[in-house]
Amino acid sequence: MAQYDGFAEQYREMVKKGGPEASFRYIMRQLTRLDDIRNKSICDIGCGQGELCRRMAFAGARVTGVDLSAEQIAIARGDIAGVRWVQDDAMSLGSLPDESFDYVVSSVMLMDVPDHRAVFRASRRILKPDGVMIWVIMHPCFQSPFSHPLGDGSRKVLDYKEQFWKSQGTGTIRSTLGAYHRPLSAYLNDFMEAGFSVIRVDELERLDSSVDVLPAHFAAVGRKVRPSV
Ligand SMILES: C[S@@+](CC[C@H](N)C(=O)[O-])C[C@H]1O[C@@H](n2cnc3c(N)ncnc32)[C@H](O)[C@@H]1O
Repeated sequence: MAQYDGFAEQYREMVKKGGPEASFRYIMRQLTRLDDIRNKSICDIGCGQGELCRRMAFAGARVTGVDLSAEQIAIARGDIAGVRWVQDDAMSLGSLPDESFDYVVSSVMLMDVPDHRAVFRASRRILKPDGVMIWVIMHPCFQSPFSHPLGDGSRKVLDYKEQFWKSQGTGTIRSTLGAYHRPLSAYLNDFMEAGFSVIRVDELERLDSSVDVLPAHFAAVGRKVRPSV
């Protein structure tokens, strides 16, 4: 079963409740800070049901949404016009040609893939020279199964090492699919080793009204450069 097939309804509810909203807003802000994105080609990898693609297309970009899940792509295709939808694996992006995009964006997806390095390499391949990748992940320091809220906004972090985890319970996305926990250093070093120079990193402001004060998302922006040898 491809990732998220069978969880489309659950994911739609999460988007409705604003789960990835901080990530969508951040990516839109960075794109417009860097460029006039009208007519720019942007690939959203792990696009889910396409909300970020919709916003980028509305801003005038030429958008391709890629997701492994046939069900997520089918919902996106049914709901949103003016975007090219592709079912493909972000770890290879085999159906997309080299050097064909000005930007690659990825919203809360890298924790879902077993090989984030392959995603960075594939993204670099499809970017034009000097193209930019923007990615947002759940903050691995504070939003992890090892980080326990203490009820006053603070958290106790019990573990941090790289590992695959599943949440307790049944029937939820994380109890079924699990996720890959990686330290920030792994993401950033592997991003640079894949051939990106980091332009900026951010810890996103929370948009929810929970007692939590620690950032829920971490983000990085990098420009394609020659890989180091
Ligand atoms: C947490 S959702 C994020 C969706 C969307 N980017 C958003 O922010 O709402 C993760 C998405 O990544 C997709 N995904 C997971 N592994 C993938 C892979 N190897 N290649 C492409 N998409 C993948 C899933 O199907 C799912 O739609």
